[in-house]
Amino acid sequence: MYSLARKLLFTLSGEAAHQVALEGLDAAAKLRLLKPLVADRIKAPVTVMGLEFPNAVGLAAGLDKNADHLLGLDQLGFGFIEVGTVTPRPQPGNPKPRLFRIPKQEAIINRMGFNNKGLDHLIQRVKKQPINGLLGINLGKNLTTPVEEAVNDYLLGLEGVYELADYVTVNISSPNTPGLRNLQYGEALKDLLQPLKEAQARLADTHQRYVPLVVKVAPDMSEEELLSLAATLRLLKLDGVIATNTTLDKSAVEGLRYGKEAGGLSGRPLTEKACDITRQLANALEGDLPIIGVGGIFSAQDAVARIEAGASLIQVYTGFIYRGPSLIGQCAEAIAGMKKT
Ligand SMILES: Cc1cc2nc3c(=O)[nH]c(=O)nc-3n(C[C@H](O)[C@H](O)[C@H](O)COP(=O)(O)O)c2cc1C
Repeated sequence: MYSLARKLLFTLSGEAAHQVALEGLDAAAKLRLLKPLVADRIKAPVTVMGLEFPNAVGLAAGLDKNADHLLGLDQLGFGFIEVGTVTPRPQPGNPKPRLFRIPKQEAIINRMGFNNKGLDHLIQRVKKQPINGLLGINLGKNLTTPVEEAVNDYLLGLEGVYELADYVTVNISSPNTPGLRNLQYGEALKDLLQPLKEAQARLADTHQRYVPLVVKVAPDMSEEELLSLAATLRLLKLDGVIATNTTLDKSAVEGLRYGKEAGGLSGRPLTEKACDITRQLANALEGDLPIIGVGGIFSAQDAVARIEAGASLIQVYTGFIYRGPSLIGQCAEAIAGMKKT
């Protein structure tokens, strides 16, 4: 059934297909048509960062940037959904077109540039749509905020969403906001994360609830850079790390239509790279922080490989676009099966 829907959707431009699919999902959810069409949520609870996830498979950030489609997405059976990236103020993102499918490689190039309706909108939407899975909220900075002042935007985000989120993600790895990825390195990383950890402690006290803070990283890092990042995350006692965001390495799509578009590449070409980064991070972190593995997961086998590489949870985005909702249950079941053997 999804293959038919996909055929129709893929006749539209990338971004239009995205919109039509999500609106269709909402309509089906409202009319209660979705439940009979999709499999039940796989019940295979895992405890990570002190939270009990109904299953280990989540939706990665960027598909529901404004938390406009939580109800429909939740009915598809994810163990958790990450909304955002949200910035304090609304912003339009880059000019269209900015999302390109490359079906031959089951890939996507995007340069959306954090298009979103801003923090206030997201907060209102989350309040109106309680979900059964857990909720991650992914924070970014506005384009017009200088990178040196980025911490202020993340602090606004953290304060705004703290009481609504099960965990909060600090996204410093989008390639489409100039200078953002520089925050992943050396002193800049410490200067960003230290005040956020202090704010987290304050907020935990105020709300009498500890909300884990995780950092999302890029796959385009040398071993040395990864080791340094891991050391900082351990030192500052971050609660988790999401590996990875999209890659700037487009060698896998060279010569293909849209293969030279500017932006980050996701999907199949990222599978091995993201898995390697997970493995390297797992070695460097020595179990101090759990890893949420994302990037190029298209099958139960990919999901199992990512857990074997050291991830505790996984997320899907491009695989979900190409393979459809059945991917969620397949991955969740395969991961649950690993634990039994
Ligand atoms: C169109 C598109 C938009 C994205 N937007 C965001 C975003 O706003 N924030 C973020 O942290 N990651 C974003 N991502 C990255 C995904 O969450 C994910 O980390 C990446 O695509 C790798 O996973 P995949 O190969 O399963 O897609 C986006 C990805 C795509 C394809």
